[in-house]
Amino acid sequence: MRTQVAIVGAGPAGLTLALLLAREGIESVLVESRTRAYVEHRVRAGLLEHNTVQLLHELGVGERLAREGLEHHGIYLRRQGRTERVRLTELTGRRITIYGQQEVVKDLIAARLEHGGALHFEVSNVEVHDLDRERPRVTYTHKGAAQELECDVVAGCDGFHGVCRPSIPDGVLTEYEYVYPFGWLGILVEAAPATDELIYAWHERGFSLYTMRSPQISRLYLQVPDDARIEDWPDQRIWEELQIRLASDGWRVNEGPIFEKGITPMRSFVVEPMQYGRLFLAGDAAHIVPPTGAKGLNLAVNDVRLLGAALTDWYRDGSSAGLEAYSHNALRRVWRAQDFSNYMTQLLHDLGGGAFERRLQLARIDYIARSEAAAGSLAENYVGLPAAADF
Ligand code: APR
Ligand code: PHB
Repeated sequence: MRTQVAIVGAGPAGLTLALLLAREGIESVLVESRTRAYVEHRVRAGLLEHNTVQLLHELGVGERLAREGLEHHGIYLRRQGRTERVRLTELTGRRITIYGQQEVVKDLIAARLEHGGALHFEVSNVEVHDLDRERPRVTYTHKGAAQELECDVVAGCDGFHGVCRPSIPDGVLTEYEYVYPFGWLGILVEAAPATDELIYAWHERGFSLYTMRSPQISRLYLQVPDDARIEDWPDQRIWEELQIRLASDGWRVNEGPIFEKGITPMRSFVVEPMQYGRLFLAGDAAHIVPPTGAKGLNLAVNDVRLLGAALTDWYRDGSSAGLEAYSHNALRRVWRAQDFSNYMTQLLHDLGGGAFERRLQLARIDYIARSEAAAGSLAENYVGLPAAADF
């Protein structure tokens, strides 16, 4: 088999890239190791930047998003029972939209299949070959048969645990990593959110976040130690902890049946460059951010926005300038998001540094509350910097 671009991984990065390329008449084949049901139901963050929403609309996959997405124009920062609102839209002219990542993935898959594009689920033994030649290959097993896909370019969109990054020879990549000594316990709840906008709460006992998926479904997170086990967190204990950490006078978190519960480790990770020969990495395959700034999906989409444009130039007029600049341009935004995610994490979590560190965090929150410049800086990073490649 032969195609122009072989895309490994059907998460947000791979699926968005396939649609971007199809729009320009560039053919691709997507191979995914999981089942369709699995990728459509994997629960992750759910906050879309302004740029991400615009791109999904441009790709013709924004119809349900426009109907069901919740547009927000601010966020709350809470500490010691006091709440500040960061006026995102007033400060930046931009907004954010709450819409689950798995809903984005469902819409992208439906669009890909509707247009008749190749998308193979449940492939195994995926390997990439000849990355330093003009005709790289992807081999895999599908429905029991060995397949070989010859292509011009491989897009490694296979997430943090994928095969593409480890296929790059030793010595090519530099890895930067920081693992936080805590994780997030996240729940999905059948209960109307008791807040109109997200609440990021600093508390002596640790961070918590009140977010949502719809007017009927709440999503909440608690900072937990990195060795926390989900068995040690019965529902009752989760609610008690959330009510304490999110407390505010005369107000309570709305409780209800918990239908999803999990612990996510917190990590910052980047590889440089995001390219080797004819293999281009995008999304979690190249970088991970802690979820505090909700940047993971938005960064993945931004990578493929750049990669899609670079491939379009290459196929259309033979110009490889965009492909050569891809890693450099993508990494500029990746590091901006790394810094912001780290900043939000350090602002709000118990980092284990003791009372002095905790007191400094409160001073920083007060500064955001009182200074337009401080709030403006948080806001422009939070809603996402403009899509231009020079950011
Ligand atoms: N072969 C084929 N597919 C693979 C392989 C493999 N060897 N290994 C992994 N995959 C698939 C995974 O099953 C997954 O569906 O690649 C896909 C990668 O998708 P994501 O992990 O969602 O990564 P990405 O598309 O970069 O999106 C980033 O996802 O992890 C979140 O917070 C992150 O929101 C961010 C977004
Ligand atoms: C979410 O809705 O899942 C979410 C929102 C904001 C974050 C992280 C997660 O910072």
